[in-house]
Parts: sequence; structure tokens; C-alpha cells
Amino acid sequence: MTTIAIPQGMPQYDDVPRFDVQRVRADFPILDREVNGHPMVYLDSAATSQKPRQVLDALREHYERHNGNVSRSVHTVGTEATEAYEGARAKVAAFINAPSPDGVVFTKNSTEAINLVAYGFSNASAGAAADPRFRLGPGDEVVISEMEHHSNIVPWQLLCERTGATLRWFGLTEAGRLDESNLDELVNERTKLVSLVHMSNILGTVNATARITARVREVGALLLLDCSQSVPHLPVDVVDLDADFVVFTGHKMCGPTGIGVLWGRTELLAGMPPVLGGGSMIETVTMAGSTFAPVPARFEAGTPPIAEAVGLGAAVDYLTGLDMRAVQWHEKELTAYALDALATVPGLRIFGPTTPVGRGGTISFALGDIHPHDVGQVLDSVGVQVRVGHHCARPVCVRYGVPATTRASFYLYTTTGEVDALVRGLEQARKVFS
Ligand code: ALA
Repeated sequence: MTTIAIPQGMPQYDDVPRFDVQRVRADFPILDREVNGHPMVYLDSAATSQKPRQVLDALREHYERHNGNVSRSVHTVGTEATEAYEGARAKVAAFINAPSPDGVVFTKNSTEAINLVAYGFSNASAGAAADPRFRLGPGDEVVISEMEHHSNIVPWQLLCERTGATLRWFGLTEAGRLDESNLDELVNERTKLVSLVHMSNILGTVNATARITARVREVGALLLLDCSQSVPHLPVDVVDLDADFVVFTGHKMCGPTGIGVLWGRTELLAGMPPVLGGGSMIETVTMAGSTFAPVPARFEAGTPPIAEAVGLGAAVDYLTGLDMRAVQWHEKELTAYALDALATVPGLRIFGPTTPVGRGGTISFALGDIHPHDVGQVLDSVGVQVRVGHHCARPVCVRYGVPATTRASFYLYTTTGEVDALVRGLEQARKVFS
């Protein structure tokens, strides 16, 4: 295996925990497979991560031994299922250093978590007695950025249409970073909410949020951070980030699909109107009206994704066992290696930071004027799995004047050998299309 040369200027810590990537890979059964006669090189972890045996075993064990509905049974398996479900909530809370598991609401994914907040605002705006922090109307503003995934754009566009509020956004610099030059004008006394991505799913940029958070606090607005791409890849501490809401999703962090998280400050969630009505979210129901359960149950109407939560709990155990600092460091070294390697490919243009500082292991690029779909097909023919398209972040493509990009994204099981396979595949694409 090629030795990773750490670029100049990158700190070299002796005390950063490490893991053996080959041992990690042995936990992921799918990494053994072939694609088109080649060993599969999975470079699409930003779309969804692969799952270790420990998570697959936890799902099977749940259904084989402990399946029952939660929060409504006195019988043994129902009680076991409830303990496992609430145990997963406690694990997730500890993983992000949440002060209490009550602030962890299980959702279907990040998209649903963001929509839950948007509809909380919407319902508050329609009701006279609602907490004023959630009330929006003409003259109020919501601030996002040009770097957002569609899931952090469209819900706010719809909310602004419903309430008459105005949507504004941070632009991007040529280098793929947030343009904060107009921060004080953009985030102002009219701002009710700032909703920002922590790590971009297309540019890989990790946003340093401290300055923005300070401004949000100064004007009395609320802050939501979309941590879908950061929670899987680096230690995230919600207290340290000083956010009001944080969202992320299970399937990008070694867990199953169908489970996501909305974390909110419990005092704030307690003031947000319910969104989905139904079983489990009530305190009492009469034909004349209902009262609602405390958080988090208030936001978890119906039978929740029980096995998926258990699987997410197992994923959290797995990542904690490796140490998130080790995960982050592995990817940082790999990203440094990949940026150097990609720089050797003639005609390749990277969108986003070109140094491994303030960025994660997701790299979008163009290869000359070869269409990304063609690049993706050549790569697939040699077993390399990358995503092509606008990555549900179309405004970023518009900003940089391209219809689409090719995106390689790494995770804790990615090796330098796989980066080399990507580079070889790109050389082949250049030959095919020259
Ligand atoms: N949001 C996922 C991605 O970036 C699906 O690919």
C-alpha cells in the first residue's frame, strides 16, 4: 500500500488514535464483491455508506429475538423492544454530546428532520397562541446558503411561500467556501432562522460556524445545522457547536436507511407545535381536542422505525469503538492523498477546497469537457462506484457554471489503493473520450 504523504502545513499528531483499515474493511461484507469483473471500489459513501456486520447482526437479532411494538406493551418482547429503542436514543445522544436523550427525535432521514422544523414554524405561524420564536410572517427572514442540499432549500422556500417571509442566502467564493463578507447585513434583526450545512455534500467544505453562530445569537435568531455529512465523518458536539437544531441521517453513518435524527434543545422543542398527529404523540384525546406528550414523543407519531433505531445504535457503537477522531484522521490523510493524486490528472478541475484543510473526504470534479455521466460509466466499467449529477445541490453547479459533476466520496474503509484505482479509471476515461 502506498504510504500517505501528509502535506506540509497539516498538523502531525502523535496521539491521534488510529485503526487498521484492512481490519475495518473485513467488517463490511459488501466490500468483497466484484463489479464488472473488477474488485468493487466503493467511492459513493456521501450518498450512502456501507454497513458493517455488527449493524447487520443487530438488525437480524432484533427481528429474531426482540420484535415487539414500543411504548405500548407490558409484555416481555414489547418491553425489550422499548428498551432497545430508547437505548438507541441514549447512544445517539451521547455520540453527539447532547445534554439529554429527550432532545433526540427519531425521523425517517435528514430531509424529514428539516421538514419537521419547517412545519413546526408553519404551524406556529398559523396559530395565535404559538411561541413567538417560531412565528414567521411578512418582514421576517430565513437565511440559508448556496451550498445547501435541496433538502435544506426547498422546505424553506415552501415555508416562506406559506408565511410571506423572505428567503435569503450566503453566496460562495471561487474556492468553494461560504462567502461571509456580508454576514452582518444578511443576518440581521429580521432574521428568525439560519439553516446551514455543516459539511457540503458536493464540495466537501466543512463550514466553520463560530462567527455565524455569534451573529445568530446577537440578533436573537435560531440556528439549524445540517450535519448529514459531518456526523458520520468527524466528532460532532452539539454543545460545542451551540446550535439550536442539528439534523443527520443513519444510512450515511454505517446505519440502516429509514432512520434519521432531529436533535433540538429540549426547551425549544417543547415550544414547537406538533407536526404529525396520531398515536404515541398524545397525552390525552377527547372528541373535542387533544393534549400532547412531552418531547421527544410529541414528534414521533405512529409506530416508529424501531429496528432501524436499533441498527443506528449499533452503528454508533461501531463508530465509537473505532473513535471518531481516528475516523476523521483517516479521511483527512486520504483526502490529502487524493487531492495530490487528482492534481496529476490533466484537465481535471476540482470544485471546492483543493487543500485538506476545512474540508472532508468528498471531492467533486470535472474531467475536461467529458460529461460526468460518461466519466461515471467508464469508472463503473472498471468497478469504481462514484456519483454523477448535481448531487441534489443544483445551485452549486449553477454557481460554478457546470451542469453536473463527478463526485468521489470516502469513508473509514476507503484505501489509498482505491484512490489509485479512481485515478487509473480517469486516465482511461480521458483516452476513451479524447
Ligand atoms: N444526499 C446524498 C448525496 O449527497 C444522497 O449523494
